[in-house]
Amino acid sequence: MRILGIETSCDETGVALYDTERGLLADALYSQVAMHADYGGVVPELASRDHTRKLLPLIQQVLDSAALVRGDLDGIAYTAGPGLVGALMVGASTAHGLARALGIPVLGVHHMEGHLLAPMLEDEAPAFPFVALLVSGGHTQLVEVRGLGEYRLLGESVDDAAGEAFDKAAKMLGLPYPGGPQVAKLAEAGDPARFRFPRPMTDRPGLDFSFSGLKTHTLTTANALRDAGELDDRGRADIARAFEEAVVDTLVIKCRRALDQTGLKRLVVAGGVSANRRLRERLGIEVGKRRAHAYYPRGRFCTDNGAMIAYVGAQRLLAGERDGEAMRAVPRWPLAELTPPVASE
Ligand code: KG4
Ligand code: ZN
Repeated sequence: MRILGIETSCDETGVALYDTERGLLADALYSQVAMHADYGGVVPELASRDHTRKLLPLIQQVLDSAALVRGDLDGIAYTAGPGLVGALMVGASTAHGLARALGIPVLGVHHMEGHLLAPMLEDEAPAFPFVALLVSGGHTQLVEVRGLGEYRLLGESVDDAAGEAFDKAAKMLGLPYPGGPQVAKLAEAGDPARFRFPRPMTDRPGLDFSFSGLKTHTLTTANALRDAGELDDRGRADIARAFEEAVVDTLVIKCRRALDQTGLKRLVVAGGVSANRRLRERLGIEVGKRRAHAYYPRGRFCTDNGAMIAYVGAQRLLAGERDGEAMRAVPRWPLAELTPPVASE
C-alpha cells in the first residue's frame, strides 16, 4: 500500500509517501518558523493560511520525487489532532477532498502517535513493548507502549510542556522563537556550576512533571542578574545552562523511574525536545547502566513531519481502519483514548 501522509497541526507543513513494503519513499517539509518568529510564537490564523498555500505544491513535490502520480496512491493519512483547529482543517479537508476524488480510503491520525512511532522509520527500530518519553512543544508524557494503539499513560506534565518551557526560557533570555535549539546552543558556553535550578517533582514518587516553577525560577534569576548589570552574554549562557541541566535532569530521573517501574528495557524518545543533545547523552548513560536501549527518530523526524503521519496511517489503513464521510479536526485528544486499529465495515 502506498500512503500519502499530511501533517498540518501547527507551524510546519509536512508531506510524505510511505510504502508498506518498501518503506519511506519521499518526504518534504515547509517550516513557517521564520514567519512566526516576528510575533514571538505561532499565530494560528497565519499558520492556517500558509498551510493552504504550501500543501498542494508539497504533495506534488513528494509525488515527483518518488516518480509517482496521484493515481498510484492507495490511501491518505492526515493529522486529525491534537493541534490548532484551523491548521488541522487545512490538512483534513485536503486529504478528504483528494481521497474522494481518487476513490481511495482516508484516515485522520493522532499527532502524538506519529511522534511516538517515528523511530519505527529507522533501520534500528524498537520492538514492542517499550517506554516512550514524548517531549514536544505541547506535551510531556511518559507512556507504556504494548503495541499499536495500546498506550498507558504513566505520567505527564501538570502544567507547561518541556518544549514550551524551553521556548519561554528563550524569550526571557531574548532569544528568537522557537527557543529550544537556541537555548541549547547558548547553554554550550554556560558554566554549569554557577547556578543550580530546581528539579521539580523529583523529590517525591510518581512520574508526573511540572515545569512552571522552573520557568519562574529562570525569570527571577534573569531579573536579579539584570538588576546587578550582569545579564551579559556570560550571564545569559550560565542561565541557559542551568535551565537545560534542570530540564534534562528531571526528564532523565523520570525515565529511569519509568523503566524501573515497568521492568522494560527499551526507551523511545520522541518529539521536538528529543533533538536535544544533552538529553540524549544523559539518557544514553542511564540506559547503559540498565542494559537497556534508547531509540530516537533521525534529526528531522524529531520535530513535526509528514513521514510519521504516513507511517501511522499506513499501519492503521492496512488493518482496515478508515474515516467515514466526515473529516476530523480535534484540537484536544488524549493519547490514552486511542485503541488498536479497528477495521471499518
Ligand atoms: O514536536 P515539535 O516539533 O512540535 C510540537 O508538536 O510541539 O516540538 C517543538 C518543540 C519546541 O518547543 C522547540 O523549542 C523544542 O521542541 N525543541 C528543542 C530542541 N529542538 C526543538 N528543545 C530543546 N532542545 C532542542 N535541541
Ligand atoms: Zn509535534
